[in-house]
Amino acid sequence: MSPAAELFTSTFGSGEFAEFSAPGRVNLIGEHTDYNNGLVLPFAIDARTHVAAARNEDGLVRVVSAQRPEEIRTLKVADILPGGEDLGWAGYVFGVYWALVDAGHSLGGIDLAIDSNVPVGAGLSSSAALECAVGLAMSTLYGHDLPLADIARLSQRAENDFVGMPCGLMDQMASATCREGSVLFFDIGHDTTENIPFDPSADGLAILLIDTRAHHALADGEYAARRASCEQAAAQLGLNSLRDIEFDDLDEAMARLDDDVLRRRVRHIVTENRRVENVVAELRGSGASAIGPDMTASHLSLRDDFEVSCLELDVAVEAALAAGALGARMTGGGFGGSVIALVPLDAIETVGRAATDAFQARALTLPVLRTVSPAQGARFD
Ligand code: GLA
Repeated sequence: MSPAAELFTSTFGSGEFAEFSAPGRVNLIGEHTDYNNGLVLPFAIDARTHVAAARNEDGLVRVVSAQRPEEIRTLKVADILPGGEDLGWAGYVFGVYWALVDAGHSLGGIDLAIDSNVPVGAGLSSSAALECAVGLAMSTLYGHDLPLADIARLSQRAENDFVGMPCGLMDQMASATCREGSVLFFDIGHDTTENIPFDPSADGLAILLIDTRAHHALADGEYAARRASCEQAAAQLGLNSLRDIEFDDLDEAMARLDDDVLRRRVRHIVTENRRVENVVAELRGSGASAIGPDMTASHLSLRDDFEVSCLELDVAVEAALAAGALGARMTGGGFGGSVIALVPLDAIETVGRAATDAFQARALTLPVLRTVSPAQGARFD
């Protein structure tokens, strides 16, 4: 029995249940572009959140997590509404329940046992993995069988309007719909997705994930501030979103803004969308070996123009590049979390050691290293 199944049985009894799971993600490139209607290129990783779940006739939503087995969180179905007390991790679960019901998908009581190996605070979207896993469970057990992309949107709604985090749609769409062996090219403004094969090992390469284990407390407030700045810049330019600025019109758009900070935020978004297009073209053409310079340019733009990097991320990127990585960048929202480096297979150890040594030299908590490759999105297990 899986750990989620065992937890279900020990918590809720020996009745029938079904199992579902959804993965964390890394973003290959396209950072902070999603809430600007832009382009992103994430892939799911083989760290997953598992849920064992069943309907109950008690009108209750009960949820327990193997990572916090001492607490069963329980709410009456009618009491699951936004604006109440802070529910912590369980807020993501109750939030998805609320989002489904609010969208007209009727649900009754449900028991859920959760077990996850997606690290929390590592920039790998543990919250999206939780949302999409429980969203798929709720939708399936009550016979709605919603498309995975709908589960992604409802999960984002839960995070925006129930948890109160103004995230974009990238993480949930990646966790719900990514395919093994592919990156997800998601054009948010045009609402189109395409799975592009991504197998760096075919080119003698790997993606090394360097989890810096840093998580700076200002992350959520700064994220909301970046989003607000982008919306302010778009409004000043008379645009719906910064996506509407063509790369060739960037200079002209910047000249129309009087604030240097807003100008740099705009430059990041417009050049980042361009880099996503470049990487997609490179993957379709010569393959993964060509994408390194765009990855590194993305990091520099996030560091200097968008200002969402931090010491640990910069140290990891610099150490990786100095030790032979073809490209490296922070992935996710920033202010901590993880770096991804494109590394020749025979240099994985050297690059990993260089990152560890660089952290040790600065007396930073040592990073956690692993290689990642594109895994399957949410599924019925
Ligand atoms: C977080 C958010 C995403 C996205 C990234 C930055 O992961 O949840 O919506 O904005 O940051 O690209």
